[in-house]
Amino acid sequence: MTQNELKQAVARAALDYVVADRLVGVGTGSTANFFIDALAGMKDRIRGAVASSEATRQRLEGHGIRVFDLNEVDDLPVYVDGADEINVEMHMTKGGGGALTREKIVAAVAQKFVCIVDESKLVPVLGRFPLPVEVIPLARAHVARQLAQLGGTPQWREGFVTDNGNLILDVHGLSIVDPVALETQINQIAGVVANGLFARRPADVCLLGRSTGVSTLI
Ligand code: A5P
Repeated sequence: MTQNELKQAVARAALDYVVADRLVGVGTGSTANFFIDALAGMKDRIRGAVASSEATRQRLEGHGIRVFDLNEVDDLPVYVDGADEINVEMHMTKGGGGALTREKIVAAVAQKFVCIVDESKLVPVLGRFPLPVEVIPLARAHVARQLAQLGGTPQWREGFVTDNGNLILDVHGLSIVDPVALETQINQIAGVVANGLFARRPADVCLLGRSTGVSTLI
């Protein structure tokens, strides 16, 4: 199976977690896009969706799925999203597409986080994928110096602006043995909006696409 076929398989499997007549939170990226396309087939059975990015909002609306502002929502049973890396403890690195802050907010509201990934994303230790950090533009150089002190090599994603009008630093060379501690530590740096570690709020379920089929990690 190709990587896209694995992504499509987990996207389809995630439909089982969508609750009828309720809202579903939707992530960002190529795997989330396959989920949106699959969700379109059951759009009449859901109330609507909450989007984690402008790209996701546009794709949902393109399929005729109603998108709600998160501020109008007090009950979100499930959030479905991909990841750049995940470990067996369900800690993730996210933000390769730059949507980490809104993804983190929607995930925080959701009762259940269903992570959909192909098997290449499952790693023993997070850090092979550079860790994205969203920063206020004024703070870019300051945050980069602080991240270097933590042992990483931050690289400015030049030319990229997030949906929130901010910048991304991708931190290379980290071996993230304690994701919860590092997530907290990076959040303390003045000028950081959010970082791509999803460890304090890990996934609840991981649907892992393998050539032999979809495995469920809980
Ligand atoms: C978007 O900002 C990311 O968090 C994505 O969820 C992550 O990059 C996974 O993307 P793919 O599904 O395209 O690999």
